[in-house]
Amino acid sequence: MADGSAEKGKALFSQCDACHEIGAKARNRTGPILNNIVGRDAATRTGYVYSRGMRNAASEGLVWTEETLDGYIANPRGYVRGNRMAYAGMRDKASRADLIAFLRTLKFPEPIEERSYR
Ligand code: HEC
Repeated sequence: MADGSAEKGKALFSQCDACHEIGAKARNRTGPILNNIVGRDAATRTGYVYSRGMRNAASEGLVWTEETLDGYIANPRGYVRGNRMAYAGMRDKASRADLIAFLRTLKFPEPIEERSYR
């Protein structure tokens, strides 16, 4: 996948931040925290209740690589059947590459509440 611009991707994250928090103080909201998402197994945020569709995909081995993120962000409903992310999708491939370049920068320590079980 072509390398995107994290700077452009940061601006595009405005399409995500109504539902997803990022950063050192991020909390699960409508959607789960997206820190450390690139390379992460799907549906592994402690304290977030995922849909059955997303949990099924995770149990089938879904990992958020740049490739799977690209597919999911392009068409969330088509990519993970039965998931409940209410986002229509980002059609432009170069924009998705920019957004994923930004997601790659989101390396933060896991919040304290995520280190213990509910
Ligand atoms: C309207 C709210 C909403 C918007 C906007 C939204 N999301 Fe989501 N997102 C969700 C919800 C809800 C889930 C959980 C889906 C499930 O459990 O089926 C989710 C899940 C995800 C996941 C899987 C996380 C995990 O822990 O496995 C990723 C990755 C993701 N979203 C990325 C994005 C990106 C990138 C954007 C912006 C382009 C975005 N989302 C926009 C609500 C949203």
